[in-house]
Amino acid sequence: MSVSGLMVRKMKKEDLDRVSQIEKECFSTPWSRDAFEDMIDNPLALYMVAEDNGYVVANCGVISAAGEGDICNVAVDPAYRKRGIGEKLLSEIMNVASKELLVEAFTLEVRASNKAAISLYEKLGFVNEGIRPGFYTSPKEDAVIFWKR
Ligand SMILES: CC(C)(COP(=O)(O)OP(=O)(O)OC[C@H]1O[C@@H](n2cnc3c(N)ncnc32)[C@H](O)[C@@H]1OP(=O)(O)O)[C@@H](O)C(=O)NCCC(=O)NCCS
Repeated sequence: MSVSGLMVRKMKKEDLDRVSQIEKECFSTPWSRDAFEDMIDNPLALYMVAEDNGYVVANCGVISAAGEGDICNVAVDPAYRKRGIGEKLLSEIMNVASKELLVEAFTLEVRASNKAAISLYEKLGFVNEGIRPGFYTSPKEDAVIFWKR
């Protein structure tokens, strides 16, 4: 099932409450509202949301440094998963980051057990380039490092 009224756009201050709510539903160590707010004013960061007929259902960010883009906080509201939203949002943010932040290569870390996210990244052409042992807490787990060059 796809979402017909889906739109991807940059995150605004008005989105912060909803984005922090999605973050809490998705992660055991969620980013705070303030952390997201800082990203809006950070010239090296790009944060985007997907909205379904005006209701924010997903968010994602990229922070750039020297042509490399670190992808953070890929998160889709649990009620809206498996509809192509994560894929659309991630594709779009990489497109915009390559044009506006001149990002040439993207990287991210993911929990080794996160099959859904790993499958999404591999579908979009990311390649597993190593493990960071015990990187995550709550629970402690290895991170897999992916790159798309
Ligand atoms: C990972 C996540 C972002 C995927 O979002 P989504 O909108 O459900 O994903 P999509 O519907 O766009 O799926 C695209 C592809 O991802 C993969 N995928 C998504 N969910 C999957 C699942 N439950 N099991 C296996 N593969 C899955 C598939 O390859 C899928 O392609 P397909 O539909 O052709 O099979 C979402 O599950 C999520 O928010 N998880 C919690 C937060 C999280 O773990 N984020 C990643 C942190 S690094």
